Amino acid sequence: MKSILDFQERKNKKQKISMITCYDYTFATIVADSNIDCILVGDSLANTMHGFPTTLSATVNMMALHTAAVVRGAGAKKFVIADFPFMANRKGLTATMTAAEKIMRAGAHALKLEGGDEFTYKVVTHLVNSGVPIMGHLGLTPQSVNQLGGFKVQGRDEKAQAKIKEQALRLQDAGAFCVVLECVPSKLASEITASLDIPTIGIGAGPDTDGQVLVLQDMLGMNPGFKPKFVKTYFNGFEAIKEVFNTYHSEVEAVDFPTEKESYS
Ligand code: KIV
Repeated sequence: MKSILDFQERKNKKQKISMITCYDYTFATIVADSNIDCILVGDSLANTMHGFPTTLSATVNMMALHTAAVVRGAGAKKFVIADFPFMANRKGLTATMTAAEKIMRAGAHALKLEGGDEFTYKVVTHLVNSGVPIMGHLGLTPQSVNQLGGFKVQGRDEKAQAKIKEQALRLQDAGAFCVVLECVPSKLASEITASLDIPTIGIGAGPDTDGQVLVLQDMLGMNPGFKPKFVKTYFNGFEAIKEVFNTYHSEVEAVDFPTEKESYS
């Protein structure tokens, strides 16, 4: 996928969208060579790349640095969306535009921002009118983990469901080209997806959204202690890579590496 027009085309043709997070050059070259449709430089880089417990530690500078590395790796092959980090779009329009400019100039093709309230809709409209495509993010919005009281499924009762449905429509009206729905009941995600003209991308939102997103490290089993219900682990990366490290260590110890093959005459 090369542009936001491809997102809309997928929705219109009822073809699913696959998105993966990515934060560095090397993995970006692999994703770029794969069939995955698009890349999210998520603020989850605070967890996966920097070891912080929440995404609140991601900053505009961190987002710009990782976005630039991913764009160098993915080249022109993939559409790259980058997250607005915690607070970066809440300090007034001028500060928001400065943050957006920094991350877009790092090479992002679009920005994602969490939440739905009057200020967010205003910001989305202004960014879109300024040429910045915006992906919304509703349901469990990890930047609000302290306000939500933990990483919990959202939209369990009717009132909360009505609120998320309205937020999705308001984001669409404000000009968002797509909305991420995180950790909401499948039925709610399905209803929102049917009510919107723009595509939805789910994570922990069931099979009926227009696309799916997973965190790269979760999918590859890099963090064996972390296994929420919505994550599917396609590879036992932690153990597989540890085994390679141990083989290397043993070969160094036994002087089986380097051999003549890896040495200069
Ligand atoms: O930062 C992130 O990885 C995200 C996805 C979970 C949607 O926002």
